[in-house]
Amino acid sequence: MAFWYGYILVARKEISGGDAIACFFGVNVGGRGLALSLSYSAQIAQGTVAATTIFEIKDRIPDIDPYSPHGRILSSVGRRIEFTGVTFAYPSRLETVILCSLNLVIPSAKTLALVGASGGGKSTVFALIERLYDPINGVVTLDGIDLRTLQVKWLGGQLGMVGQEPVLFATSILENTMMGKENATKKEAINACIAANAHNFISGLHFSYKTQVGDRGAQLSGGKKQGIALARAMIKNPRILVLDEPTSALDPNANTIVFLDQGPVVEIGAHRQLMENVGAYYALVKLASGRFQNPASETESTRGGNAGKCKAKKVSTIGILGLQKPEIVKLLLGFLLGMHAGAILSVFPYLLGQSTLKITNSN
Ligand SMILES: Nc1ncnc2c1ncn2[C@@H]1O[C@H](COP(=O)(O)OP(=O)(O)OP(=O)(O)O)[C@@H](O)[C@H]1O
Ligand SMILES: [Mg+2]
Repeated sequence: MAFWYGYILVARKEISGGDAIACFFGVNVGGRGLALSLSYSAQIAQGTVAATTIFEIKDRIPDIDPYSPHGRILSSVGRRIEFTGVTFAYPSRLETVILCSLNLVIPSAKTLALVGASGGGKSTVFALIERLYDPINGVVTLDGIDLRTLQVKWLGGQLGMVGQEPVLFATSILENTMMGKENATKKEAINACIAANAHNFISGLHFSYKTQVGDRGAQLSGGKKQGIALARAMIKNPRILVLDEPTSALDPNANTIVFLDQGPVVEIGAHRQLMENVGAYYALVKLASGRFQNPASETESTRGGNAGKCKAKKVSTIGILGLQKPEIVKLLLGFLLGMHAGAILSVFPYLLGQSTLKITNSN
């Protein structure tokens, strides 16, 4: 079209041949550039939305500043944690009280397991110990001192925490473990993995400590992820170790078991004592053992039944091509149009040459 119209204008002596060619290439190159720049508009919009969220988070001033230099630092930590009359609701849902007048003593040098139904507030207790939140009423103390008066950064250094859904970073096992402590050495990381009982499975991996865990640890099983998260928590040799789930199978071995149902404490005692009481803990243990026994037996029988059927079939290339039969019309059409699109690349220089010749001749 441009060549045709340009030729007419040149024939009428309204423009020169050079101007026609310059105009054609100007519109062609400029149009392409404009189209290309518009194709980035979606990415620009996405980037703007993502950046807005990041700046909102960056500009937010938290009630509890983890980097604040203010607050007390204790020279020695006896590790006794006490909840006195603690009432708590999450700031986003103030109308739902999660813990109500909770009184709980976690003695020094003892293991204490929190058990209870899902949503009973176990992880919430950990969040309060970590000082991610402060209670609405009541007080949480460490060795008799209100957590709110302690320096948050120092408190974080005393705590080793393995969350319910531990997050790993998309790097090697070694680097993930070393992230638990500033300036950690490789030797410290390996010792932490030995202490967390993760060394054996890590050594068995093809790249050992250099194994990449994938995005959020996607290339590892849940148990292995927890093992590495435990090593990451233990590398700084914390005074207080808080484990949300990874050792739940060991709960019966804890010195004290506390049955929690949104506070106050429902039952407290050793495993045997609570089982003899035939109360809430007993019911939960029975429920859990029933739930875990049945699926296991089903799985075993299913595995046994399918064992013989799971042989991989051999598939030939012709067989795979045969699967394309329903698409044959579309494939042929695509083939012909592809040839046509390819031919344009050869026809275009021919047209350009001819047009240039005509335009310059008519000059
Ligand atoms: N960040 C949050 N904002 C608002 N509500 C929350 C938040 N986190 C937890 N909750 C609510 O608090 C209650 C207690 O949650 P919590 O995670 O402490 O339970 P849990 O005892 O650890 O349960 P589970 O055994 O399933 O881990 C739940 O009803 C939950 O929906
Ligand atoms: Mg939980």
